[in-house]
Amino acid sequence: MVSVFVEEFLSWKKKQLSKGGDVQSFDFLLESLCDLSARDLNLLTINPRGSLRLKKSLVDLELIWHDHLLNSTPIQYLCGTTFWRDLRLKVTNKVLIPRSETEIVIDIVDQIFGDKSQKLFFAELGTGSGAISISLAIANPLWEGIASDIDQDALEIAAKNYRDSSKQSNLQFFCGDWWNPFENFKSKFDLVISNPPYIPKNTYEKLPKEVKNFEPKIALFGGEDGLQHIREIIQKAPLFLREKGWLILENHFDQGEKVKQLLIKNRFTLVEIVNDLSGIGRFTIGRYK
Ligand SMILES: C[S@@+](CC[C@H](N)C(=O)[O-])C[C@H]1O[C@@H](n2cnc3c(N)ncnc32)[C@H](O)[C@@H]1O
Repeated sequence: MVSVFVEEFLSWKKKQLSKGGDVQSFDFLLESLCDLSARDLNLLTINPRGSLRLKKSLVDLELIWHDHLLNSTPIQYLCGTTFWRDLRLKVTNKVLIPRSETEIVIDIVDQIFGDKSQKLFFAELGTGSGAISISLAIANPLWEGIASDIDQDALEIAAKNYRDSSKQSNLQFFCGDWWNPFENFKSKFDLVISNPPYIPKNTYEKLPKEVKNFEPKIALFGGEDGLQHIREIIQKAPLFLREKGWLILENHFDQGEKVKQLLIKNRFTLVEIVNDLSGIGRFTIGRYK
């Protein structure tokens, strides 16, 4: 722990922000490494007296901030952590930083399966940091879940995140290519969720450098038209879903209609495009017959 006068801290903070970057990223740095929330910072600004104990020295924090500004390294990778819904998750450059727009997938699941006392078997394909599966497993202790990823390093992070966030044992992790790890679970799933890589080739080439240079290509790149993985997931889903089981997919902002048609073609019913909080058709959902 390092002790620092509040006034000194506030003028240091102002100086760091004058070098560039945005307030949200700087606040993230302070919250993730020093447990200083935006509310704590406001209180300090209102009453800048006394001193403050920090988990990191100002010099250490400044070095991280410089790395972020100079190299565009995502602040979450530099801090080794991110916040998603009510979870605090470890992240490294082996996993996609889970996005806030993905958070409402949990609300979509809640709307479909409102009854928490019901037992249910779910799978998540391409779990990355584990955000979606861990959130579902914790909120629904009666459910059993399986989360998979093709990348063993990502799975190890997801498994650690689960151990660190929960004492439950209703989530397992499997490594492999989309449906391959689930050969023993044909016609078994009540719910399958996936936020697969869906960025089309042209868009991928033009991604901002803080994404393209740091986040794993395998988590983002969806082939020529972005739908390569979504197609594969939808085509094989009928083998693994129970009758009336649900498939929930995240897609790129303009892919909803195409994903909807793919679901209909593969005999899904109740197919719907669901908007995210910005009004973008971010999710496409359907029930298998
Ligand atoms: C867009 S990221 C989503 C990560 C996480 N579910 C989230 O929402 O933040 C896609 C994930 O799919 C995984 N993935 C890519 N290709 C895969 C494949 N063929 N089979 C299984 N997982 C794959 C990537 O490693 C990555 O973790």
